Order: sequence, then structure tokens, then C-alpha cells
Amino acid sequence: LESILANLSAGVLVFDRRFVLRTVNEGALTILADDFSGLLGEAPENWPRQLALGEAIRGAFAEHESSEWQEQIELEHTDGLPQILLLRGTQLPAGSHGGYVVVFDDVTRLIAAQRSAAWGEVARRLAHEIKNPLTPIQLSAERLQMKLADRVSGSDAEMLSRSTQTIIRQVEAMKRMVNDFSDYARLPAPELTAVDLNALISEVLGLYETSRATIALKLAAKLPPVCGDATQLRQIIHNLLRNAEDAQESVDSPSIEIRTRLADNLAEMIVTDHGPGFPPEIMARVLEPYVTTKARGTGLGLAIVKKIVDEHQGRIRINNRQPAGGGVVSIALPLASLPTRGHRVSQLPTEA
Ligand SMILES: Nc1ncnc2c1ncn2[C@@H]1O[C@H](COP(=O)(O)OP(=O)(O)OP(=O)(O)O)[C@@H](O)[C@H]1O
Ligand SMILES: [Mg+2]
Repeated sequence: LESILANLSAGVLVFDRRFVLRTVNEGALTILADDFSGLLGEAPENWPRQLALGEAIRGAFAEHESSEWQEQIELEHTDGLPQILLLRGTQLPAGSHGGYVVVFDDVTRLIAAQRSAAWGEVARRLAHEIKNPLTPIQLSAERLQMKLADRVSGSDAEMLSRSTQTIIRQVEAMKRMVNDFSDYARLPAPELTAVDLNALISEVLGLYETSRATIALKLAAKLPPVCGDATQLRQIIHNLLRNAEDAQESVDSPSIEIRTRLADNLAEMIVTDHGPGFPPEIMARVLEPYVTTKARGTGLGLAIVKKIVDEHQGRIRINNRQPAGGGVVSIALPLASLPTRGHRVSQLPTEA
């Protein structure tokens, strides 16, 4: 049993009849990034570190007396990001000393992937369903204006013209919004080539010469090319720079720093600003579509960035500068050619 528990990637906690924690497997330590020292031999209400987990477990057993239960909970992981766990609890039969077992998995990534897929689907359908009637609405408004303009006069004419103009303008705005939806949903698959990330950053920065913010570059010398779609990577840089600018709208001398470096066979680009940082309450969902704190934001900027990064097999991290504040977004992308390690050569991109 010990070796089964040790090799299980799921976390397992075993409690005795009095709810004292007796066994913790390796999986639990890894998922929770906690060595459980001081928690073994204690009941969950005496777990200073895993308070939320303990409460969830005690609560669930109390609620589902003597039956099995399954529950999803959200914890704050040690790195400050939310972690979603799927817990299953069973009460052991009283005959064999009794006790309680909790098995859990980290489903954070799974849930994020499901949400992202669901959003893509919603965006596609919305775009399709909304777009179709827009052109006829616009044309009808124009026709009304044309046909009736000569037949009415005075305040009626003015009202007619104002109303039809409103319809036309609002429909135009809706079309733009729908196009943004479908851009997100229908982001084409990346065309991967070897891209010089440093050169790409410098090129995009050319468009920010008139920016209010000073933009400092700290590019790694001899950064190997990444495996990417230059157009999509440009879009990432734009979206991050725009966010960094937006975040510093009320900062007196806004500044942005873009750094690149080589880290673990990935090329990393880190964009740091000196605004207030990401609002903690949206941190968990900031990469999902339509999460925005801006009056005129679509909340698609980072969702698009995330999607592009995913399709490049890269990773994205969002943080705030400590303690000064300011957003930090780090994007890591695979290199176009991995350092010579025989067995990985088969993973080289073919288009490079
Ligand atoms: N550099 C940053 N500093 C602080 N908060 C940020 C930063 N970048 C993004 N955010 C927060 O994340 C939210 C989502 O960003 P995202 O780019 O996805 O959408 P948006 O900027 O609101 O809208 P859009 O990109 O369509 O203009 C923003 O509304 C803002 O609250
Ligand atoms: Mg944005």
C-alpha cells in the first residue's frame, strides 16, 4: 500500500477515527508544495498552514455524513496564484478502525483549458449569430432615411436623421466588437519559423516612439531564434505594451522595461511596468476572455496573448512587482533549434 500511495500522482490524506492526519503521500506534498511537517498527527483544525484545505475537508465530511463526497475547492498556491483541487472523500467502515480518506488532484490547468475552449466556442457562435443581421439592420436604417427624408420636415426630419444615424453608428460599433470576438475564436494556427525575438521587439518598438512611456530594452546578447509566428508574436508584444501603457495612465513618468533572456532552453521575454500592478481580484482569471477593469476594454488582449502562447507551446506568467507594484508579464517560447541533445532533435520544427 505504501508504494502504491507513493507512486500515485494524486494526493492522498488518511485520517484516523478522531480525524487526526495519519498518512500523507508524495503526491499530496507535491500538489500542495508543503512538506506537512507539524501537520501530521494533527487534526485539520490545527493546521495553521493548510487552513482552507482543512476547513474544506472537515466541512465536507460533516455535510455528507457517512457517504462519499466530491468537491472542488480553490486554494491560494504558494506562488500567489489560485489552485483548483478536486477532492474526493470517503469514510472508512467502522469495522476496520474507521477513519477518513481524502484523494485529490490538481485540476487547475484542466479547468483553465476547458474554460478557454468553452469561450472559443461562445465567441464563434456569438460572432456568427450576431453578425448576420447587422448588415440588413444598417441597410434598412439607411433606406428609411433616404425614403422618408423628403416627406417629413422640421423636428420630425431631425429626429429621423438622428435616430437613423444612431442605429448606423451603433451597428458599426457592434460589427467591430463581433470582429474582435471572432479574431479571438478564429486565431489561425501559427506558421512557425525561426524568429529573432530581439529583432522583433526592436521593430515593434519603432511604433511606440510617440508613447508617453519611456521604454527601456535589456535584450540578451546572442539570444537564439525562437520557433514562432512573427505576426502573432508581434501581436503579443503590442498587447502587452498597450496594457503597460494603460496601467500607467495616471503615473507621472511612466516607464516600461522589456527584457529578454535565455532560461532553461526557452527564450523569455519579460515586460515590466511601473503602474499599480494587476488587481488581485482578477489575477486568477486575467487570461480569460472578457475579463477587464477598463471602461473601454474588451478584456480580449491577454486572452489572445495566452492563446498564441499556448499554440506556440510556450508559457505565460503574470505577476506583480514586489513590493513596489507594477505588472510583470513573462512569456517563454521554445527555441527554433534545441541545443544538441540527440534524442530531442526529432522535435525540431520542420518549417524553420
Ligand atoms: N500591465 C498591467 N498592469 C496592471 N493591470 C493590468 C496590466 N495588464 C492588464 N491588466 C489588467 O488585466 C485586465 C485584462 O487585460 P486585457 O489586455 O486582457 O484586456 P483589456 O486591456 O482590459 O482590454 P483590451 O485589451 O481589449 O484593451 C485589464 O483590464 C487590467 O485590469
Ligand atoms: Mg489589453
